[in-house]
Amino acid sequence: MRARTGIKLEHEQIYRGNLILVNASFPLKEGAAKDLVPVDPSIPDVLMKHDAADVLQLVLEKISADGDIVPVSGYRSSEEQTELYRESLRLNGKEFTEKYVALPDHSEHQTGLAIDLGLNCGEIDFIRPNFPYEGICEKFRREAPNYGFIERYKKGKEKITGIAHEPWHFRYVGYPHSNIMEDVDLSLEEYIDFLKNYRDDRHLIYDGADGVYMEIFYVPAAEDETPISLQQAGVYQISGNNMDGFIVTVWRREND
Ligand code: DAL
Ligand code: ZN
Repeated sequence: MRARTGIKLEHEQIYRGNLILVNASFPLKEGAAKDLVPVDPSIPDVLMKHDAADVLQLVLEKISADGDIVPVSGYRSSEEQTELYRESLRLNGKEFTEKYVALPDHSEHQTGLAIDLGLNCGEIDFIRPNFPYEGICEKFRREAPNYGFIERYKKGKEKITGIAHEPWHFRYVGYPHSNIMEDVDLSLEEYIDFLKNYRDDRHLIYDGADGVYMEIFYVPAAEDETPISLQQAGVYQISGNNMDGFIVTVWRREND
């Protein structure tokens, strides 16, 4: 029989991790993001969480972007989002602002897990950079899910995300969640709900390469501490969903 690993999670941990859902209904609860670094050393004011920034660089290297894609906006503090919202209201009006700028403390940019990217061609719009469905930008869009990034505000999902179609906004959720969301065409809102079907003994299995597979499941948070029991696992990751529970991802190898 395989040994089991027992973990206890504090309630506050539901507000942390790569899979937190931040939208009009679920504000960021965690406070200012930590562990931020420039995504590109030559653009020191565009920041992301360290892991997300490293992975973004990997995708850009993989597609040989060579400066053709520019990071436009990454981490924003609550004050910066407030200022952006206010300025956009003044310059662009209510209808535009509600479609393209999240309310302060409801923006993914405050998590350090979101990045707006622009095609490097002349002037770049800060709120709506050009990131077309062709050329190097499309190459990025196709490769990104293999590394943990998703196009967050897709066409057709506006009623679910509460935000207009934003071809330039990418969110780090981690692999393989990004690939699953892409394969099944689920927004983060839908994916968080979908995962609630996988709990207790019914886990979602994702087949990776070389005999590695991932087991994914949801654990509702208890009021106080949540115990999680894992069948002995070498590598696992746990993220809160910023709503009501945790998503556990366990990496396993066939025949182990
Ligand atoms: N443009 C996205 C929705 C934001 O402001 O967070
Ligand atoms: Zn954005």
